[in-house]
Amino acid sequence: MIRARAVCSSFVFVGTLAFVPGCGKDSTKADSNKKTADKGAVDKAPPDKGSADDKAPPTEAREWAWTLPKGLSEPPPVPAENPMTAAKVGLGHQLFMDKRLSGDGSRSCYSCHQNELGGADGRTLALGAGDKPLTRNTPTIWNVAYHQNGLYWDGRAPTLEKQMLGAWKGGNMGVGEDNLAAKAKEIGALPEYAPEFAVAFGLEPGAEVTPEHVAMAVSAYERTLLCGDTAFDKGEMDEAAQRGWDLFRGKASCSTCHAGDNLSDGAFHNVGTSHDASGALLADADVGQGKPSGAEENNYKFRTPTLRNVTKTAPYFHNGSVDDLTEVVRYMAAGGNAKAPGIDPNLRNTQLSEAEIADVVAFLGALECPGSLEVIGDQSVGGIPEGPIEAGPEAEPEPSPEAAN
Ligand code: HEC
Ligand code: HEC
Repeated sequence: MIRARAVCSSFVFVGTLAFVPGCGKDSTKADSNKKTADKGAVDKAPPDKGSADDKAPPTEAREWAWTLPKGLSEPPPVPAENPMTAAKVGLGHQLFMDKRLSGDGSRSCYSCHQNELGGADGRTLALGAGDKPLTRNTPTIWNVAYHQNGLYWDGRAPTLEKQMLGAWKGGNMGVGEDNLAAKAKEIGALPEYAPEFAVAFGLEPGAEVTPEHVAMAVSAYERTLLCGDTAFDKGEMDEAAQRGWDLFRGKASCSTCHAGDNLSDGAFHNVGTSHDASGALLADADVGQGKPSGAEENNYKFRTPTLRNVTKTAPYFHNGSVDDLTEVVRYMAAGGNAKAPGIDPNLRNTQLSEAEIADVVAFLGALECPGSLEVIGDQSVGGIPEGPIEAGPEAEPEPSPEAAN
């Protein structure tokens, strides 16, 4: 099997994207410990409109060339069923930005995954379509395609495609399972979209657009949201950040879990965030991975989040329970919540001084990436982002993995 990077690395296009046969496919899992230099800047993926090659044969026949920012050594894996093409990525980009996808027309995917907020929404807990309070904090959308052990804090969605369908029919976008097919058909029939779906998926004129088509396009776009080129990646950290990095992988042993290019081991850990300081279960405690895995020993475990852009994604943790990044670092460095039962054995009090904690925070600041999602259309949404609105008692329980939000 040819590894994508071996083929692609000689085709780096700064500021543009090109098709390279045999490139971007079969990419293996990110080899997260390698760092390569000499990569071009991350780029947006414009739809390749107007190119004759876009018509027949279907664009799936063509491949995608990755332009990797510094710090990401491999392109994210791409499922064989949904190969990358410029037409599909461009379509997915528009769909990601389109409020008409939501049940009440109030929200696009971008509404909760915004540039200024590091690809999240700045809220303690998300507020879905119809202003429905959701039960979790919004994670960043950056580098989301590198998470290979399941998406969402609890890992319940195995692929981006499944995640998209869940977010779309569930509370986030509020379309509802029963209305999904009709919604996809309606979107696909819009004059601005119909030709794009036809090109991206090789559809016959008049063929119905399905929810799966929409999910495939959006997922292809999400796979292009790469966060790199940070001060850390470019070797341009100041002294405090450099000291912080040494602590991070040394004395503070953060890299036990926050490892690899994306600063996540992709694994699930109980770091004590579902219990209070006395070790009692929080009233609104979320069982995390315990639910989709059906195994009690996974209760209160959440996937290690990436730390890229983390300075912008406050509040933190799956429940948005901590607003301040320094406080999060202090908590993690102290071994998490020592009283919480079942806490991960890799967490211990690493005895960091306040000055050392400040250095680790400075290091996290060196993980801000310069890229931004190209916004299309008016993305103002009443109520998002605003001061935290806690999910009240009327908040609906977490949907099952099948009806995932
Ligand atoms: C109302 C806010 C909101 C909207 C709208 C929204 N999301 Fe999210 N998104 C969230 C929240 C909250 C989570 C985490 C939920 C969980 O873990 O249970 C999430 C998680 C995700 C994840 C998984 C991230 C990870 O680290 O595992 C992806 C991918 C994602 N959203 C994409 C989308 C797409 C695509 C859309 C549009 C169809 C969308 N989101 C719309 C709030 C939102
Ligand atoms: C045992 C594995 C593990 C270790 C060690 C660890 N973390 Fe984490 N970290 C996690 C998990 C899991 C979460 C998410 C917990 C949750 O949401 O309830 C997390 C969350 C965070 C967050 C919040 C990110 C967000 O988007 O909400 C930051 C910041 C963070 N960790 C930094 C650190 C630092 C700094 C260290 C070292 C002092 C460290 N972590 C050590 C597993 C770990």
